[in-house]
Amino acid sequence: MREVWAQKDQDCGYERLGQSAGISSSNLKTQTNNSTMSYCPTPLHEIVAINSGDAHWEHLRQQCFDVRIDVFHHEQKFPLEAELDDQEDTATHFLLRLLPSLTPVGTIRLIRRKSYYKLTRLAVLKDYRKFKFGRDLVLALHDYVKKEAFEAAHRPDTTSSAIIPEYVKVHSHSQLYVKGFYAKFGYEPEGEEFDEDGEPHQLMVAKLKIQHSCP
Ligand SMILES: CC(C)(COP(=O)(O)OP(=O)(O)OC[C@H]1O[C@@H](n2cnc3c(N)ncnc32)[C@H](O)[C@@H]1OP(=O)(O)O)[C@@H](O)C(=O)NCCC(=O)NCCS
Repeated sequence: MREVWAQKDQDCGYERLGQSAGISSSNLKTQTNNSTMSYCPTPLHEIVAINSGDAHWEHLRQQCFDVRIDVFHHEQKFPLEAELDDQEDTATHFLLRLLPSLTPVGTIRLIRRKSYYKLTRLAVLKDYRKFKFGRDLVLALHDYVKKEAFEAAHRPDTTSSAIIPEYVKVHSHSQLYVKGFYAKFGYEPEGEEFDEDGEPHQLMVAKLKIQHSCP
């Protein structure tokens, strides 16, 4: 069972974007260990979107930072000083956490540019990379972008003068080994590879369709 919604939680003050109830036939993963086979259910989890000023903003954002530092600095050996940048206060941070423990295990960050959005800092803790949490985070970010782009296109001050856009673009600077992951979500390479923080990267771009009417 999987529910997705995007609304301010009355008690918490931040947006809960999705929750997976975990144990169902569709999200049982098969794991083989030598000759034995066992089933590993996806742990119950939720994704919350965090913006500056939300309740618990600093605490939740710090949990995102901790996941990023664990993955990008300790595991992948990127310099610690490169991890936090000048986008942290204005970005939307997404935190994937287990339920009911609220243990943080994954994160992704959304940055706004004038004519596109930027997906950044996608990370899932190593021990949790078998549950499709990376996919859940990318899809939660996409839903959030489409909703925000829809609302921007239909604001009274924009509809009178501007052409309503059909698509919104999302950019990602992908490490080379993860290009195939982004391709699963519609991202296509653009331009040449380039160096970022000492590692080769590729610009990947997705065009997300904005739903302007009921299907
Ligand atoms: C990249 C990352 C977030 C993926 O998260 P994950 O939870 O392991 O991925 P998922 O289980 O959601 O994978 C979804 C699909 O992508 C595939 N996939 C996962 N990693 C992939 C990779 N590196 N290349 C190609 N496909 C990949 C999975 O096999 C799965 O395919 P399926 O749906 O056909 O079965 C995770 O590996 C990670 O945190 N890596 C370290 C940090 C990092 O490199 N971030 C990217 C920075 S650009």
